[in-house]
Amino acid sequence: MARRQRLDRLLANSGYGTRKNVKQIIRNGRVTVDGNRVTDNGMQVDPESQVIEIDGERLNYREFIYLMMNKPQGVISATEDRYQETVLDLVPDEYSSFRLFPAGRLDKDTEGLMLLTNDGKLAHELLSPKKHVPKKYFARIRGCVDEKDCQAFSEGIVLDDGYKTMPARLNILNAGEISEVEVIIYEGKFHQVKRMFEATGKEVIYLKRLEIGPLKLDEDLEPGCLREITEEEIQKLKSFIL
Ligand code: URA
Repeated sequence: MARRQRLDRLLANSGYGTRKNVKQIIRNGRVTVDGNRVTDNGMQVDPESQVIEIDGERLNYREFIYLMMNKPQGVISATEDRYQETVLDLVPDEYSSFRLFPAGRLDKDTEGLMLLTNDGKLAHELLSPKKHVPKKYFARIRGCVDEKDCQAFSEGIVLDDGYKTMPARLNILNAGEISEVEVIIYEGKFHQVKRMFEATGKEVIYLKRLEIGPLKLDEDLEPGCLREITEEEIQKLKSFIL
């Protein structure tokens, strides 16, 4: 794939600031390409074959960014919204030039693992209904969850609109007036976990996503916090879906 692109765009996409910031950096003569100082923002460069330095330091070239967020309750899974706080509002400014978006959705009141990326191909594969990527949730349920529910989940549940879900795995951690369970679903219908419990006459009162395929929520991430996923996590994710 041709990687030639405008110098200012490359720097902005590599996290050196907004397009305006990086234009200033270039104009100030702080950038060299193959050892030659450049001041032309629009110069076409190839970060794979050319040596690009900023203040004498080699450009840390990255095309794609993958962030793992522990989404807090009260925030919507959108890139922008006029009235409500979005997951993108929680992303630090250093990533602002990367055009990140959430790969998949969680309800406003759902917490947990959210992947934010600018890698459209990976996101597309991850969300493709054909891939059946498992998603694991922890849920607190009003009502006593029992073996009959586990059996019903394993056969697929008919939702309020008549759709029968794929078989899902339900694991009871605690059963009582309030039960605690883990659920694994292999598709991503709107409000799916809540609707599956509704169909069995119970109510989800707390929901947290723990895993997407091989990617596990880092337990050290407090709600609202994020980190880049490691090279190993990226490789596991890619080999799982691509
Ligand atoms: N299922 C739901 O009901 N809500 C979510 O946010 C995710 C899965």
